[in-house]
Amino acid sequence: MLVAVILIIIGGGLGGLAALPKSSGGGGVIGVEQDPAGMIRSDEYFYGFSEAVYPSPKMTGEGSWAEAFKKAKDLVGKMTLDEKVNLTAGGSSNTSCNGFLPGVPRLGFPGLCLADAGQGLRGTDFVSSWPSGIHVGASWNKALTRQRGAGLGGEFRAKGANVLLGPVVGPAGRVVLNGRNWEGFSSDPYLAGALVYETTRAVQSVGVITSTKHFIANEQETNRNPLNDVQSVSSNIDDRTMHEVYLWPFQDAVHAGTGNIMCSYNRVNNSYGCANSKTLNGLLKTELGFQGFVVSDWTAQHAGVATAEAGMDMAMPDGGDFFGEDFWGEHLHDAVKNGSLPESRLDDMVTRTIAAWYQMGQDRDFPIPGVGLAHDITKPHRLVDARNSSFKSTLLDGAIEGHVLVKNIREALPLEKPRLLSIFGYSAKNPDENNPTGTEDPWLWGSETFDFEEFGSGFLSFLGLGGKPPGKTPIAYNGTLYSGGGSGATSQSLVVSPFDALVHQAYEDDTALFWNFHDGIPPVNPASDACLVFGNAYATEGADRPDARDEYTDCLIKHVADQCNNTIVIFHNAGIRLVDQFVDHPNVTALIFAHLPGQYSGKALVSLLYGKSNPSGKLPYTVARNESDYAVLGPDLPEGIFKKFPQSNFTEGVFVDYRHFDAKNIAPRYPFGFGLSYTTFNYSNLSVEKVSGNDTNFDEFPTGAIVEGGQKDLWDVLVTAEAEVTNTGKVNGAEVAQLYVGIPAEGAPVRQLRGFEKPFLNVSASQTVKFELTRRDLSVWDVVRQKWRLVRGEYKIEVGGNSRDLPLVGTVTI
Ligand code: BGC
Repeated sequence: MLVAVILIIIGGGLGGLAALPKSSGGGGVIGVEQDPAGMIRSDEYFYGFSEAVYPSPKMTGEGSWAEAFKKAKDLVGKMTLDEKVNLTAGGSSNTSCNGFLPGVPRLGFPGLCLADAGQGLRGTDFVSSWPSGIHVGASWNKALTRQRGAGLGGEFRAKGANVLLGPVVGPAGRVVLNGRNWEGFSSDPYLAGALVYETTRAVQSVGVITSTKHFIANEQETNRNPLNDVQSVSSNIDDRTMHEVYLWPFQDAVHAGTGNIMCSYNRVNNSYGCANSKTLNGLLKTELGFQGFVVSDWTAQHAGVATAEAGMDMAMPDGGDFFGEDFWGEHLHDAVKNGSLPESRLDDMVTRTIAAWYQMGQDRDFPIPGVGLAHDITKPHRLVDARNSSFKSTLLDGAIEGHVLVKNIREALPLEKPRLLSIFGYSAKNPDENNPTGTEDPWLWGSETFDFEEFGSGFLSFLGLGGKPPGKTPIAYNGTLYSGGGSGATSQSLVVSPFDALVHQAYEDDTALFWNFHDGIPPVNPASDACLVFGNAYATEGADRPDARDEYTDCLIKHVADQCNNTIVIFHNAGIRLVDQFVDHPNVTALIFAHLPGQYSGKALVSLLYGKSNPSGKLPYTVARNESDYAVLGPDLPEGIFKKFPQSNFTEGVFVDYRHFDAKNIAPRYPFGFGLSYTTFNYSNLSVEKVSGNDTNFDEFPTGAIVEGGQKDLWDVLVTAEAEVTNTGKVNGAEVAQLYVGIPAEGAPVRQLRGFEKPFLNVSASQTVKFELTRRDLSVWDVVRQKWRLVRGEYKIEVGGNSRDLPLVGTVTI
């Protein structure tokens, strides 16, 4: 213990990161339980690595929450101790809600249904399969994201789901092979933050509470849960990186008013995510002024009183862990009775939950919790069709805009009435089944096209299931992908596969179609006008991806390209997919990252392939040439003296994704923000101005009161920029104009995204795009002052079409 404390001091405020001895060391550490080989056996070793922040801040009823707060306090004031305790943990129900908080009927509180997830309701009928987070990220479209949120939220409402278990901004994309990156929007905190803001506002505008997750630094699936005496992985992060990268999008969600935050499975600086007083009491409830309630990820609770004191408010799916240990329930009751936990903390826990319910207006004509979520949809049940036809175009536009065209030579695309099209690859058609069985089946978990046995051992690995080792297969070979797997999977009521839509188009054009979906080396007809090759990159919760590419698909593509001089490649990729093995083949004429489009996948793709719409998606991550180009490719594994307490040291700091490529001067294959169109755009006339006026304050540090999201003046606009974008090509189309800022501070990335707009421009039309830069956008986190610091000096402002093509350059001095 003593040694640990000294190490922390040497670490110089790095929150434990620098304090960790090298895992290979193996030397003895005095005072903690270790075996002869030096292996750490007790978590006492880590005490103090994560700062202690107590007591848990009470809800204040700040701003728009005032009325809900007052009503909640009144209601909670009428509750008995038992009733309050019952409102801190899930109970059983005859619904398929993933979590169910029992009600207090005598006081008119009906309880809460919490349901997955951020891309559509899972495990039920008559709902839509929306584009996944990564697809929304690739659209870079704030207005469309807002529409999607309203449509998605509307379906949850219709089904009586009070809490939507999403959106996801953690993982934040640090680990390229993370199995859940596709649930989030982007590897860039600003883009993720802008889109989580829109999603939160929109979902909550229809009265459904968002559960922004997973808080925080939930960056790998490997060792995400404790198993066999090995604890969850610890994300060891320094304070600056925490603020500038990982907390950033959560800050936007809180600023948007999210009613709920889900604490994560991993440990942060060696303290469990749902028992971490620094992250929950400190960052979330103090610094960001969060007013809602914190729910545990499912079975992420590993302690009783300690989790309550650290700021967790609700345990799901019940007050215990996966191994049957009970923490809350009667123990919480006893803890209050015997004085171990002040009743005021329990009151605050329940007040936060009830206030969120009032805040979204769920006390007024909200459907009965879980009313449309039958326990087993294969048995007779009340049918609640949650789909709303007025969102059909949002579903389709969303599917279209998340496709990113990255190669298009010899005018391969758009297609024009081809005479003969040949179609190859396992990812073109629908899976053979879309048929729930009422049990734990592939349909429930988005693995219809994957190997379910392998999925089971990956996703449910903590059950100790047999089967193949998790995450060994990089592709889903039984059909196309609409979403990834796990709790973020969607339940499609109606899907249009790429093949379905191609057949329909061929009917219109009298195109002859040949296809082969199952051979790795199929015969290729030399008369083909074009050959389409469909591959995918599967990813699922519970396991990290084995690779960022796969031999089978690369060989298939090269084999087709050797014989077909117009080979067009389409990937449904649940994460980054490397392409250097084949992309320079002279016959590979086009490449599309189709991501995870949801139910109108095929319709969207065909619309793009045939030029009925113009590609406008851009990459929300960097595609490298080689795996080794990334700062962090795969998960960290338990090793050395930390075999029982796996460590993941975020030593790359803020240099995630393009920040790393810029800093190390590595040429990417396709840069962050890149995507082609069928037209061309020109950028001109950049102007950058400081906002003038007496009330504009350029002081080094913000002085505002804490509102939801942090100090109020962090959102003051200090600088504006304008640029003109012109469509210089031959077809109408939309362009994502991006603004990057170079902050003149030591250790700052070369450039960071700080603005984007997506104007739609007819041929020859121009539009002025405007960017507003806030105090936060221009600041760095000052670890000494514990505030955002507006740096003095000359800032570089760059505007253009992707992070490596920024023709307009300006400066502003602060
Ligand atoms: C996932 C959450 C999900 C919850 C409920 C957990 O395993 O990590 O994202 O919302 O289950 O299904």
